[in-house]
Amino acid sequence: MRKNEVREFLIEDIEFPAVGIAKHNDKKVYIKGAVPGQKVLARVSKIRREKIEAKLKEIVENISGAVQPKCPDFGVCGGCVHQFLSYEKQLELKEREVLKLFEDAKIDGFEYLGIVGSPEKEEYRNKMEYTFGDFVKGGELTLGMHAKNSGFSIVNTDNCTIVDEDFRTILKTVVQYFREKSLPIYKVIQHTGYLRNLVVRKAKNTGEILIALVTTSQVDFDLTELTENLKSISYLGQLKGILHVINDGLADMVQGDKIITLFGEDYITEKILDLKFKISLFSFFQTNSKGAEKLYSEVLDFLGDVSNKTVFDLYCGTGTIGQLASKKADKVIGIELIEEAVEAAKENTKLNNISNCTFIAGDVAKVIGEVKEKPDTIILDPPRPGVHPNAMKYVIKFNAPEIVYVSCNPKTLVNDLGVLRAYGYEVKKVKVVDMFPGTGHVETVVLLQRKII
Ligand SMILES: C[S@@+](CC[C@H](N)C(=O)[O-])C[C@H]1O[C@@H](n2cnc3c(N)ncnc32)[C@H](O)[C@@H]1O
Repeated sequence: MRKNEVREFLIEDIEFPAVGIAKHNDKKVYIKGAVPGQKVLARVSKIRREKIEAKLKEIVENISGAVQPKCPDFGVCGGCVHQFLSYEKQLELKEREVLKLFEDAKIDGFEYLGIVGSPEKEEYRNKMEYTFGDFVKGGELTLGMHAKNSGFSIVNTDNCTIVDEDFRTILKTVVQYFREKSLPIYKVIQHTGYLRNLVVRKAKNTGEILIALVTTSQVDFDLTELTENLKSISYLGQLKGILHVINDGLADMVQGDKIITLFGEDYITEKILDLKFKISLFSFFQTNSKGAEKLYSEVLDFLGDVSNKTVFDLYCGTGTIGQLASKKADKVIGIELIEEAVEAAKENTKLNNISNCTFIAGDVAKVIGEVKEKPDTIILDPPRPGVHPNAMKYVIKFNAPEIVYVSCNPKTLVNDLGVLRAYGYEVKKVKVVDMFPGTGHVETVVLLQRKII
């Protein structure tokens, strides 16, 4: 086998996140987006001692029961890899991927409570970060997602089916407007250009919409006309604000050096279960509001009776889980890295008339050592890399009787569960919750209890 060679592979297994596994001389070949039972053509991209990676080019033989993807850009856009599967099949594969990780990590003896699907299978996302670019170098301006297997091509995702009509209309309006203006696209390598990203947030339960155009400061362009165009659209929801974010940073990520409000407010408000949450542009908020209600209901269920108890909500974002838990608990202490999210969490407690929550801004690994209280229950909801080893030391030292771990990455979850088990915790219950139909991502909720010796 040689690098760049295109070969036929039979997919035998699947691993998180939606990576099909074929075999070549007993070595695993990892092919993203392929599923067991398919015969595919793939280009070999990496040959390592322990594994081979290949990029999917063509499906030679599909699995029985494959469905027609709804999105016209399926296969070109790098977004939703599993749209050709029925939703039942998607859930079956996600469950298999998560349980395989538990099995490989030798975590057993727990009650497995199954997988729960997203209430909405389409138009479920409440946030999109689009990138300005072109599909072919020097071609027409596009705005959307990175193309599959391509670092630089941008697919114009104006027909995307995981967002609703308001997102599609905003994208079309903005891209058409800038096609007529011939402003330079930001080039990541050269760090030159103007147009970088468009961020759209829409609170699915309240209908409130926030639009943010992200540019560099390299061009002085008057955005009044675009603002008026966006204001004149008749939305299904309600436009709350339009922002101009200046980002001169070198990193290829959506962030801001300065935020200018062009119209309205700089936040939207979402309703989750019976609480309200103010969401600013950069605060973390679960991207599927109806799915988040399912996820949080499972977390509350795993928390059980916490009356008279102190609950720590670590990696708390805008304080969603903590505030929902605070209605059952004596006291909640939340820690979150993003200061803006902590400010929103504090405001949210006022909005919800909650007085038993304290939110602290800082890195969990550093701040946790300064907290004087002791938790009876700890909620962990870390980002994809999992709980930092320094933070884990404190989690273990607190010796809380129960831990509820919410994870968007089952790979780092099982590693962290391994550490907690080594320090006297037992995995009692596991439930998988899907909030990302069409994609390979999934959430897992785990209840751990300290062993009684
Ligand atoms: C998966 S989100 C969970 C947020 C929240 N529980 C929710 O459901 O909305 C993880 C959060 O951890 C925060 N975070 C990342 N690294 C952190 C760190 N070192 N210390 C504290 N918070 C961190 C992120 O900003 C993000 O808000």
